Amino acid sequence: MPETEFHADYEFLKRAQRLTHTEILQVVRVATELGVSKIRLTGGEPLLDKKIAELVAGIAAMPAVDDLAMTTNGMLLAPIAQRLRDAGMHRVTISMDSIDPKIFKAMSGGRGDLEQVLAGVAAAERAGFTPIKINVVVQRGVNDHAVLDLLQHFRGTGHIVRLIEFMDVGNRNGWRMDQVVPSRELLDIVQARWPLTAVGQNYPGEVARRYQYADGEGEIGFISSVTKPFCGSCSRARLSADGVLYTCLFATQGTDLRQPIRNGASDDDLRDILSRIWLQRADRYSELRRPAVAEAHTQSKVEMYRIGG
Ligand SMILES: C[S@@+](CC[C@H](N)C(=O)[O-])C[C@H]1O[C@@H](n2cnc3c(N)ncnc32)[C@H](O)[C@@H]1O
Repeated sequence: MPETEFHADYEFLKRAQRLTHTEILQVVRVATELGVSKIRLTGGEPLLDKKIAELVAGIAAMPAVDDLAMTTNGMLLAPIAQRLRDAGMHRVTISMDSIDPKIFKAMSGGRGDLEQVLAGVAAAERAGFTPIKINVVVQRGVNDHAVLDLLQHFRGTGHIVRLIEFMDVGNRNGWRMDQVVPSRELLDIVQARWPLTAVGQNYPGEVARRYQYADGEGEIGFISSVTKPFCGSCSRARLSADGVLYTCLFATQGTDLRQPIRNGASDDDLRDILSRIWLQRADRYSELRRPAVAEAHTQSKVEMYRIGG
């Protein structure tokens, strides 16, 4: 969240506006009854929730959940990595836009500390989270020139770096198409240094195109959400901290679940609501993304810190 807008006096959501763990667990339970088996805790920053390990344990205890993951900026990860693992979390993705401390600091609003995040990676490794994924959002002129250094750092560690095209999520990141480094271009840059071999998908709808280093030093992925949108295979729904369910990362509106839950909705009631939302969904913003469509969306897209990436 940019400090200029979200300064010390900014009115953040009050505790009562946010879903409780019990309420989140109800939504997850009903979603699993409808076929959901994969849950990702993202944010905002999930590790700001001091009782996050309890939420993890609650979700992990649901037999239908066969994949429980988290995306975090890694700043608070080191002290809690083992507890998250013990609570039943399967996988962790850590966002790290550069291995250069200066670029890292600049891209994290002057507040991120690379050493602390690397300590988080090491703790996650010790806790047995393998493979760890490292998310890198590449912006032209900002961190693109340092991508090879980051890849070099993680080659041979077993961690999977994913190079993500900078997306026009929300209205506040000042996105311009010329800041996007297409995956095709990055692939050529990486290949010129280390030959790569394409490998198939782990599961249908996987967002990253996967490659192995030909010299056996591991795997990297490319997420081409701008130049090669994957709306057609997207099966994700996103629940915000205040209980709004969104069916697209670029949504302009979602459906409030908090009110029906607090009005006493039973699991059956909630199941009807979720089914209705899912059957009616028609979003495919990334495929439609054109200047006119982007323009119409400009004032109203949900911000990334609410919808989670
Ligand atoms: C919004 S963050 C939330 C979780 C956590 N706070 C973190 O930093 O990982 C989730 C992911 O979205 C990525 N992301 C943020 N802005 C993006 C953008 N404009 N385009 C593509 N990915 C973006 C982040 O790098 C991160 O990996």
